[in-house]
Amino acid sequence: MTQSLRGVGVGLRVEHFEELLESTRNPVPWLEILADNFLSAGGPSIRNLERVAQRYPLSFHCVGMSLGSTDPINKAYFKRLKEQVDRFQPALISDHLAWVSVHHRYLHDLIPLPYTQESLTHMVSRVQQAQELLGRTIIIENPSAYLSFKESEISETEFLRQLHQQTDCGLLIDVNNIYVSAVNNGFSAHDYLNDLPASAVAELHLAGYEEQAGYLFDSHGQRVHQPVWDLYQKALQRFGNTPTLIEWDTDIPPFSVLAEEVAKAQAYQQQCQEVEA
Ligand SMILES: [Fe+2]
Repeated sequence: MTQSLRGVGVGLRVEHFEELLESTRNPVPWLEILADNFLSAGGPSIRNLERVAQRYPLSFHCVGMSLGSTDPINKAYFKRLKEQVDRFQPALISDHLAWVSVHHRYLHDLIPLPYTQESLTHMVSRVQQAQELLGRTIIIENPSAYLSFKESEISETEFLRQLHQQTDCGLLIDVNNIYVSAVNNGFSAHDYLNDLPASAVAELHLAGYEEQAGYLFDSHGQRVHQPVWDLYQKALQRFGNTPTLIEWDTDIPPFSVLAEEVAKAQAYQQQCQEVEA
């Protein structure tokens, strides 16, 4: 049975197995996995995931759907993903408003799209195909952007709204990505939050950025910065208490550091609940 997510989770890391699997109480209420790393039918990583799944609800985060690509949908990938979805029944399945493959060659980065009527029609068809192949709705994450396309005809928030309306997909809103894109491209992060279709938002991400000369880099290797916490507070006010992931993908710290970030996010959620009550 598919479980639902509540509170603040972290990404599953081998480095943290002891804290996640050996403690008597679960230190976090749920875990997100990079599903693309768990597509084999068996082996040590799948056995570990089975142990994890006995204790934690899961969210499947993907990068391999390549939804924005003009390559044909990779049916072999979706077949393997669907097998794991059926087996582990994740609460949510997500991928990005981006593409990662061209002429069947896969890249290591999430490449953004221009936001045009043509790309929207394409993305709608791709999300519909993905949802049909998986037999479930998916949620789509906003990318972090360093440049914008002069070809774009509509805003990213309008693109996400129409994608949601035309496919019934949900949204994974990465609050750090909003802040990074807003600073890099000179728009208001608060306006962006207010323009999103609130009822579609099913999960939030929080992460740390790196300050580079003249721009912010979405590094996922640091604590969450204060402007992103401030934006998170606004997001909770707008969307209500939404399952939130502390996303940390490089320079993985001891679990205690992640636990501090989780506690901080939980405090914001608690505060939001008290205001609502
Ligand atoms: Fe994210």
